[in-house]
Amino acid sequence: MQVDVVLGLQWGDEGKGKVVDALADRYEVVARFQGGPNAGHTLYHGGQKVILHQVPAGIFHETVKCLIGDGVVMDPEILMGEVAGLERMGVDVEERLFLGRGVQLILPVHRWLEEVSQEGERIGTTRRGIGPAYADRYARRGIALGDLEKADYRRQILDLVAYHVAHFPGASQVEVPERFWAALESLRRLRWVSTYEWLRHHKRVLAEGSQGTMLDVFAGSYPYVTSSHTTVAGVCAGLLVSPRQIGQVWGVIKAYATRVGAGPFPTEITGELAFWLQERGGERGSTTGRLRRCGWLDLVLLKYSIEINGVTALIVTKGDVLAGLPSVKVRVGGPDDAPIYEELPGWESVSDPNYEAFLRWIEAQTGVPVWAISTGPQREDWLIRRKDLMPERA
Ligand code: IMP
Repeated sequence: MQVDVVLGLQWGDEGKGKVVDALADRYEVVARFQGGPNAGHTLYHGGQKVILHQVPAGIFHETVKCLIGDGVVMDPEILMGEVAGLERMGVDVEERLFLGRGVQLILPVHRWLEEVSQEGERIGTTRRGIGPAYADRYARRGIALGDLEKADYRRQILDLVAYHVAHFPGASQVEVPERFWAALESLRRLRWVSTYEWLRHHKRVLAEGSQGTMLDVFAGSYPYVTSSHTTVAGVCAGLLVSPRQIGQVWGVIKAYATRVGAGPFPTEITGELAFWLQERGGERGSTTGRLRRCGWLDLVLLKYSIEINGVTALIVTKGDVLAGLPSVKVRVGGPDDAPIYEELPGWESVSDPNYEAFLRWIEAQTGVPVWAISTGPQREDWLIRRKDLMPERA
């Protein structure tokens, strides 16, 4: 088995969903390995815009199976809502979506905890209960999908709710609504598997990252991070594969940078130019609808992300958004609070030689080839620069 990986190298929202969609039919399986419905992978299918929060972005390819692997936290109501939406579009989800028994459940109490602890506000989380669900997992009291095979699973869930509520004296009881129990029951019509056993029967797997390296709980700008491993290490942990099984690591970057939520952002731009980028780039969170903070490309952080993930090829998105600027800046050094920039000539379009020069400059600076560029939001807006790096079909 070989596992290739698509990772975001910045703060998420680099366009990973579109990259996975473009590569998926070269693999037997597309697997999510971490995160949960904090992710929002935007795709265009049959001219329709679709945002996937839990289902892997490979689902629109009929020959591809999709796995939600053990490293993921899953909200049953969100997943089943998404499954229903895909089925209305004629996508055969039941036959092609597989759930690892080790996937952890996000319960209504996890969202509640994020609100009462005010963690959500401080970090600027997506308020989907991600942090508390992972915290329960690491505290060894979490509830996994496979636990629903036990006779007393309802009691286990109610006990966990009671445990949390007891820590907030004066808080009223948190209800587990009927629609949550119903969503749990409807999960049973999907296919549950052992992530380890099931993956071993496949030869070519594409691991689909969510968020980005700078939001990794260990490698990112702690505490302004998500609660999972968004790096290549997360693939090994979340899919139970060895580092030797990792093949290509596709690193996705925007030609500039964005960040949603609080935390350091050394190359942040404010004022008119930021509004212009938000407007032109449609920089609004696909999960929360919040405007994204915008900044210049940060080569210092990019080199770090490339190194810790062993990135083998880069994919650059949204160069079209910067078109028309007389020049663009890239951070090449200096401390976080006093970045040093290099200014490069701007481009009129992505076919302008100045854009090609910008890409070559990135290649020279990082030592990693730019495999492809995304030239616009639609599925077919692609330009493959290095056909020799294209993976074989499965
Ligand atoms: P959480 O993942 O909801 O706990 O949020 C933690 C931090 O990660 C916040 O700054 C969020 O804005 C950020 N975050 C989580 N998921 C995404 C994503 O898919 N794209 C961009 N930022 C994200």
